[in-house]
Amino acid sequence: MTKLKMHKTRWKAGNMIYPIPAVMVSCGDEEVANIVTVGWTGTICTNPPMTYISLRPARHSYDIIKRTGVFVINLTTEALVRPTDFCGVKSGRDLDKFAEMGLTIERDEDYNCPMILESPVSIVCETVEIKELGSHHMFIANVKAVYVDESYMNEKGKFELNKTGLIAYSHGSYLKTGDELGTFGYSISKKKKVEQTKTAKKVTETKAKETQKSKKKTTLKGPKKEMAKKQNHKGKKSKTAQKKKPYKKA
Ligand SMILES: Cc1cc2nc3c(=O)[nH]c(=O)nc-3n(C[C@H](O)[C@H](O)[C@H](O)COP(=O)(O)O)c2cc1C
Repeated sequence: MTKLKMHKTRWKAGNMIYPIPAVMVSCGDEEVANIVTVGWTGTICTNPPMTYISLRPARHSYDIIKRTGVFVINLTTEALVRPTDFCGVKSGRDLDKFAEMGLTIERDEDYNCPMILESPVSIVCETVEIKELGSHHMFIANVKAVYVDESYMNEKGKFELNKTGLIAYSHGSYLKTGDELGTFGYSISKKKKVEQTKTAKKVTETKAKETQKSKKKTTLKGPKKEMAKKQNHKGKKSKTAQKKKPYKKA
């Protein structure tokens, strides 16, 4: 069997799914309140709404969440990037992260778990299962309530989540989330499809023209090649000259 040439380098197994959210998970009760930054999180079911966080058992938050069975996932923004990092490198065993970062505690009336007022979205979660996977234990949870910052509601009553300045985490760095590239299903919407086909056609035509040009260039030989060189040189000169022409007011 012939071996195909590989273009990518093969690495040993590891985690390389990026970008991901870096959320601030708050936990505790009336007596304790802590925050732990978590990258290993995500949605696992739409209906019922379910999520997870994976924690190392060594974390101070691990014991708190195991005891209370409740945690809050707080989404992070550009304004919260410093607390996001801080809560991911300092332990609640040694200091009060809410106080250190000047964050404000709010509480869900049913679950009494602290959440972060400064985050635009706080998701109250109740653990249903803890899976001991290896280095990390996965807290599988039901979403019990979602709190959103009302100031991001537009006049049509739509929550403008993407205007809150959400951040992402990728391969060791915190990133801004960028400009919109499309919306859900745009690739098959009729209007857009026509526009895309036109653009794709234009690109193909331009590419074809460029190929023709370069073919012409490469097929010239001997004196013709010399002439073309000279012409090209002249052309370049006149372009520069044009640039140097004094600007005439219209
Ligand atoms: C961006 C980022 C993502 C992190 N993701 C996780 C994670 O998914 N699970 C985990 O156990 N620790 C994670 N950590 C490390 C903990 O947040 C960190 O050890 C923290 O200090 C633990 O706090 P605690 O001892 O107060 O619970 C992450 C840290 C950072 C900076």
